[in-house]
Amino acid sequence: MNTHSDASLWQVPAWLDVGTREALWQAALHARQRAYAPYSNFLVGAALLDEDGRLHAGCNVENAAYPQGVCAEAGAISAMALAGGRRIRALLVLGDAPSWVTPCGGCRQKIREFALPDTPILIADSQGWRATLTMEQLSPHSFGPQHLLP
Ligand code: THU
Repeated sequence: MNTHSDASLWQVPAWLDVGTREALWQAALHARQRAYAPYSNFLVGAALLDEDGRLHAGCNVENAAYPQGVCAEAGAISAMALAGGRRIRALLVLGDAPSWVTPCGGCRQKIREFALPDTPILIADSQGWRATLTMEQLSPHSFGPQHLLP
C-alpha cells in the first residue's frame, strides 16, 4: 500500500493547470476503455502532453504469447512519435488497484527517453488523480540520450 502522508505527492508545476490535468485524465480513462487485457483483466490507460500541447493516449494490449504484450504508456509514446512529438511534458497513467498504478520499469525507461528529470508523472485511478511523481523520482540516476548523443 502507498502512504498518503507526503504532501509533495500532490504538487504539480504551475503550468500544469487543472484543465490540462482533467484532459489528461479523461483521455486516459477513454483509452482504458479500449484496453485489450483478456489475460490479466487489468485495464490501463495512459495519456501524455507533448511539446505542442497535444494529447496522445494509449491502452495496454496483451498477447497470448504473454511477453509480447504492450503497456498503455508505450502505446501513448508511439502515438506521440507518429504525430511528430518528441517531448513528454507530462504523463498520466490510470488503473484501478489497491495501490497506485505506477509505470513499470520498462515504461519508466521509455518515458525517460522523451522526458526531463522534473517531468511530472501523474498517477490516477478511475476516481481521479492520486499522486504526482517526477521522472527523477520514478527513475533516479537513469541512463538516457545524453549518454549517447553529442
Ligand atoms: N500495465 C500497463 O499497461 N501499464 C502500467 O503502468 C502497469 C502495467 C499493463 C501490462 C499488462 O497488460 C497489465 O497491465 C498487467 O500487468
